[in-house]
Amino acid sequence: MPIIAWTEDMLVHIEKMDNQHKKLLSILNDLNDAMLQEKDKEVLSGIINALADYTYYHFMTEEKYLDQFEYPETTRHKNEHRYFAEEVTRFQQQFDQGEKTLSGDIILFLKSWVFNHIRKSDQKYSPFLNARGVT
Ligand SMILES: [Fe+2]
Ligand SMILES: [Fe+2]
Repeated sequence: MPIIAWTEDMLVHIEKMDNQHKKLLSILNDLNDAMLQEKDKEVLSGIINALADYTYYHFMTEEKYLDQFEYPETTRHKNEHRYFAEEVTRFQQQFDQGEKTLSGDIILFLKSWVFNHIRKSDQKYSPFLNARGVT
């Protein structure tokens, strides 16, 4: 069962972003499944790497639009991205070095951050970009 399902109330009404959000949630679900199935460290590490890479890719895609259309809250939005990217990278390193294991708490943190960020911050740029023809 997915720990976090994409639902329509997460729409930002920009096709590329909505698809990327769905993909991000699907990686989080893969990670949760792998943890519950007690997959070995290499498998978990691979999914954590995929999550870090895709998060970075998604943030860059979003920030390109925010910059291009001079969204007034670009700096604040980028700072939120940076915070999460740093948390994910830190965990990735600690996990790979055997200093931390994957836990329900970590999954909960990742899931909650992504969900809240989409609902509060991403949906905030949505009308601004839609009005400028980005859909
Ligand atoms: Fe964002
Ligand atoms: Fe986003």
